[in-house]
Amino acid sequence: MSYNLLKGKKGIVFGALNESSIAWHVAELAHKEGAQLVLSNTAVAMRMGSVQELAKKTDAVLIPADATNVNDLNELFKKATEHFGGKIDFVLHSIGMSPNVRKGQTYDDLNYDYLMKTLDISAISFHKMLQVAWKQDAINEWGSIVALSYIAAQRTLYGYNDMADAKALLESIARSFGYIFGRERRVRINTISQSPTLTTAGSGVMGFEGLMDFTERMSPLGNADAEECAGLCVSLFSDLTRKITMQNIYNDGGFSSMGMSQRAMAVYNKNLDECRDCQ
Ligand SMILES: NC(=O)c1ccc[n+]([C@@H]2O[C@H](COP(=O)([O-])OP(=O)(O)OC[C@H]3O[C@@H](n4cnc5c(N)ncnc54)[C@H](O)[C@@H]3O)[C@@H](O)[C@H]2O)c1
Repeated sequence: MSYNLLKGKKGIVFGALNESSIAWHVAELAHKEGAQLVLSNTAVAMRMGSVQELAKKTDAVLIPADATNVNDLNELFKKATEHFGGKIDFVLHSIGMSPNVRKGQTYDDLNYDYLMKTLDISAISFHKMLQVAWKQDAINEWGSIVALSYIAAQRTLYGYNDMADAKALLESIARSFGYIFGRERRVRINTISQSPTLTTAGSGVMGFEGLMDFTERMSPLGNADAEECAGLCVSLFSDLTRKITMQNIYNDGGFSSMGMSQRAMAVYNKNLDECRDCQ
């Protein structure tokens, strides 16, 4: 069922790589809700992933850009506004990568060149795209910009490594630029703190299967999946949420408010004897 929530709206969706990507689901739902889309990812991801297929399905135009490269972003926003014949109504930043996580460098043995890349790709790229959009005055009044985050920005989760620092920075950028964009241009900027979700980036996190099971058991409504994340993104892009800005919104089935649940306690107690000496 479609509500036409994004009828007449034009948006850029960054970060759809394959069918499991959260951005893929957002693009599909935004299209269904009436939006016109530009899809972007790195040139390599566009060659290797199945983004072409998504572009066909959603009548979208593909414009490659490395989100850490300001020249690429300048070109992308220019081309997107030319393509749309006017300003942009919404942007999704769904980008994350940590070379430390990929190469198994633990948090007490970080490679600092990798850390810089983690921060640049996963957080500073958000500032870069906001600054480019700001300088080009590319976003319509009452536009909406969303980036995807994770609760590791607030709480330490084993194995999430330097991505936790990147997410803390990402959320801070949303507030800092959200103030400027809100004050001067009536544009809102929010982050969504999403449940663990089975995607290419997600499955790179250490012990991901156990983590997903844990958060599923801890959340009264269960984990939110990519489609449910898309639902929240679309509602934040729509005119129904015009006064929500500078927020980090948990889309996590209630996990962020829990301490211990009956379902998690049951598993914990079952393994207690076995694990008494576990570290
Ligand atoms: N999967 C989860 O459990 C989960 C939970 C909370 C938040 N998130 C966040 O959601 C977002 C999307 O991740 P996903 O889980 O859909 O995984 P994904 O691997 O499908 O998406 C990550 C995307 O980032 C893109 N990317 C990497 N480097 C880039 C660069 N330099 N320029 C442009 N694009 C680049 C990749 O090509 C890929 O499309 C990320 O910010 C991630 O941290 C994911």
